Amino acid sequence: MDTFHAAADLGARVSAWRRAGARIGFVPTMGNLHAGHFSLVELARAHADKIIASVFVNPTQFGPSEDFASYPRTLAQDQAGLAAHGCDALFVPAVDAMYPFGAAASVRVEVPGITEILEGELRPGHFAGVATVVTKLFNLVQPDVAVFGQKDYQQLLVIRRMTEDLCLPIRILAAPTRREANGLAMSSRNQYLSSEERDRAAVIYRTLCAMSEQLHAGRSHKVIEADARAALEAAGSVPDYAVIRRASDLTLPDPAEHSGLIALIATRLGRARLIDNLLMGP
Ligand code: PAJ
Repeated sequence: MDTFHAAADLGARVSAWRRAGARIGFVPTMGNLHAGHFSLVELARAHADKIIASVFVNPTQFGPSEDFASYPRTLAQDQAGLAAHGCDALFVPAVDAMYPFGAAASVRVEVPGITEILEGELRPGHFAGVATVVTKLFNLVQPDVAVFGQKDYQQLLVIRRMTEDLCLPIRILAAPTRREANGLAMSSRNQYLSSEERDRAAVIYRTLCAMSEQLHAGRSHKVIEADARAALEAAGSVPDYAVIRRASDLTLPDPAEHSGLIALIATRLGRARLIDNLLMGP
């Protein structure tokens, strides 16, 4: 697996693959890769001939008080892991190359509506940063398919909407969430947790499962959400939200709605802010 720092070098390689008739699969990441990321590479391989991953810690999607500077950067380890999982090329652009006019003056890709709720409401500008960098990466890589994790469900919907509305000829695939043995969704930010906090963080997936069971038992959304918050608080975490929404667009379901729903949780535990979700019902 070759690593490309310059977009022109990556472009030459991709063009050669295309001329040979290969379908290109793309997995964008911020690095510090774990089994969840590698499962995206494996899914891409099932739908494309050549797989390109990117590692780019994107400054424009971090808020001023967030962890951009301290975000774990582990390139040598990431390269070895990607190569072992059958990735064909790695793109590692420099910040100046991705934002030639500076991050503040960058053209921004805004996706109205879906970016103004939940994560978007709590992290202003976050999804504009994500949509902008993914558009740039799509233009540089020109993939046929791109894979995103269901773990970041709202991000997945933002990318799908953006791709469709900008008429980008790219198929977006969703990969299921990879979890630790105790149910905790794998995340680069889990390393901010002590081992005792990791054990306690199992409450998130447990609570999502309980929300799903309660929905099937016919309990009201309001009661389910209140119980979920209480469970998260009892485990010593501070929930930002624990809600039931429509899976299609994350809008509020009617009280009688019971299909096509998703439970979403964001909660702060120790130094980490953790998010997870579970699709519920038929
Ligand atoms: P990052 O957090 O590195 O995640 C890269 C991809 O891996 C995302 O699509 C994410 O949903 C997926 N992923 C993370 N944890 C996962 C898990 N436990 N199981 C399955 N998939 C998982 O998301 C980003 O980077 C950035 O916002 C990015 C899209 C690269 C734009 O900068």
